Amino acid sequence: MNSKIAHIALFTSGGDSPGMNACIRAVVRTGLFHGLKVSGIIRGYDGLIEGLIQPLNSHSVSNIIQRGGTILKSARSQRFMTSEGRKMAAEQLKNHQIDALIAIGGNGTFTGAEIFYREHQIPCIGIPGTIDNDLYGTDFTLGFDTAVNTAMQAIDKIRDTADSHNRLFFVEVMGRDAGFIATWSGLASGAEAILVPEIPTHLEDLITKLETGWKRQKSSSIIIVAEGDDAGGAYEIANKVKERFQHYEIKVSVLGHMQRGGSPTCFDRVLGGRLGAAAVEGIMAGRFNEMAGLINGEVVFTPFIQAIQHELRIRTELINLGEMLAS
Ligand code: F6P
Repeated sequence: MNSKIAHIALFTSGGDSPGMNACIRAVVRTGLFHGLKVSGIIRGYDGLIEGLIQPLNSHSVSNIIQRGGTILKSARSQRFMTSEGRKMAAEQLKNHQIDALIAIGGNGTFTGAEIFYREHQIPCIGIPGTIDNDLYGTDFTLGFDTAVNTAMQAIDKIRDTADSHNRLFFVEVMGRDAGFIATWSGLASGAEAILVPEIPTHLEDLITKLETGWKRQKSSSIIIVAEGDDAGGAYEIANKVKERFQHYEIKVSVLGHMQRGGSPTCFDRVLGGRLGAAAVEGIMAGRFNEMAGLINGEVVFTPFIQAIQHELRIRTELINLGEMLAS
């Protein structure tokens, strides 16, 4: 163990995700178990710059394991992108005698931590926390499982009404740059087509698919659209399809931020616990600038630089499977 680390501080950054609180609890209690002082930074990098830092004890994280969101609040910081902002952040850490950071967030969070280390030598371990599941170095990010289950349950409800009225629904799910939520929720809910940002959308193909379904007397169809699809959001795509395909009445439903909230699933709570504990023990063992992830059921550390630079490819076969099984 690295005896130089006596005081760690943790924060959540970027979009919140269910399971962050379970992870905060794990970081705090693992740190205390090993005799470390643990502090929480409020509102991510912005809070660090402003010195919003408070000591955490075991009681601070009581009764949060089941809660969505993050008790530490979160933000996407513009100021930390400047060297002046990072200098102020480093001064705050020095004043509070903090030796190392634990960051729960996504790509942008780890990019910031990597630059921060190069400029100010503050060691950091990252934990992947985003509903988008778009990080290299882990099979699952914290919050993805809860978000896809929320989306799936919403789509199931939409299917009930779509089927009763013989309607075609375009359902927009989150994912500005990534189609993981769309792929998994679409496959799990029997969607007729799944449109994701990573794969170009051809409206001709979509209309042919809908025509085929209509000829086979399908009583309803559901198209899942990731918000960042190249052909537009669900409203835009629905309007284009409406001009050419009039067999069904067309409706649009945008699920939005409800996908980010709610009580975390068992999987996300356990993931938060495992990665939180591993991050603390990793930093005590002298690891830094790495992300703790879960690969094939085992905790694995991946350098930030790899987690940031590698693009995580969507599994096209899952989309094809979903569409084949729904045809
Ligand atoms: O957290 C990831 C994510 O939910 C993306 O899927 C989405 O595009 C984005 O955050 C929305 O961010 P904001 O809440 O800042 O608008």
